[in-house]
Amino acid sequence: MTAASLAGLRILVSAGPTYEDIDPARFLGNRSSGKMGFAIAAEAAQRGAEVVLVAGPVHLPDPANVRRVNVRSAAQMHAAVLAGLPCDVYIGAAAVADFTPRSCSPGKIKKQPGQDTLVLELVQTRDILAEVAAHPQRPRLVVGFAAETDNVAGYARGKLQRKQLDLICANQVGVAGCGFESDDNALLVIDAHTERALGPAPKGALAGQLLDLIAERLL
Ligand code: CTP
Repeated sequence: MTAASLAGLRILVSAGPTYEDIDPARFLGNRSSGKMGFAIAAEAAQRGAEVVLVAGPVHLPDPANVRRVNVRSAAQMHAAVLAGLPCDVYIGAAAVADFTPRSCSPGKIKKQPGQDTLVLELVQTRDILAEVAAHPQRPRLVVGFAAETDNVAGYARGKLQRKQLDLICANQVGVAGCGFESDDNALLVIDAHTERALGPAPKGALAGQLLDLIAERLL
């Protein structure tokens, strides 16, 4: 079977982690490599879509024929994604920090003599995915990701409903050889009615399978 063409579609993808600065030397990050989102962007462009990739801090080469916008923090990713609207499809594959330090210290935080704990106050970030789904220029399809350690399908289904998504791709964190930092992944793709297991497979192949499911709904 030849892959469905995505020509004429504008696809916005977010990928990678975000870094939330604590002081000029330190940040809060996460283990997302960006590989899944980059694979989706590359495959969508290869199928003829116009692709914008909002990338957190990762060391990955630019996929061919993709417009890449580099960001660092959740706030920057929020601004770049909303600036990417309108689009036909938004795929939120980034591991956006849920919390960020209330303020970034202008100078390096120093240990005080005898200090054995440090309390950082964190505030919740804006939920990019939920805002895109509720936006007046809502894309025709809004696709989220959910990395979970347990109750994978249950938590993912909850996010699908709470954030008003069309599809959510759930993956189990902590399975050897899959997910974060790995070249392979396995996804459970959930919509209001069905659940489909994709993989385990290389992220490039999975990206193609996910885009087939997306194309089915749009074309
Ligand atoms: N997401 C986002 N903006 C945020 C946090 C998350 O756009 N500030 C998106 C991610 O890109 C991903 C999805 O939401 O597509 C899942 O994020 P997650 O943090 O797991 O969901 P939460 O609803 O925050 O649930 P929890 O942290 O309790 O698992």
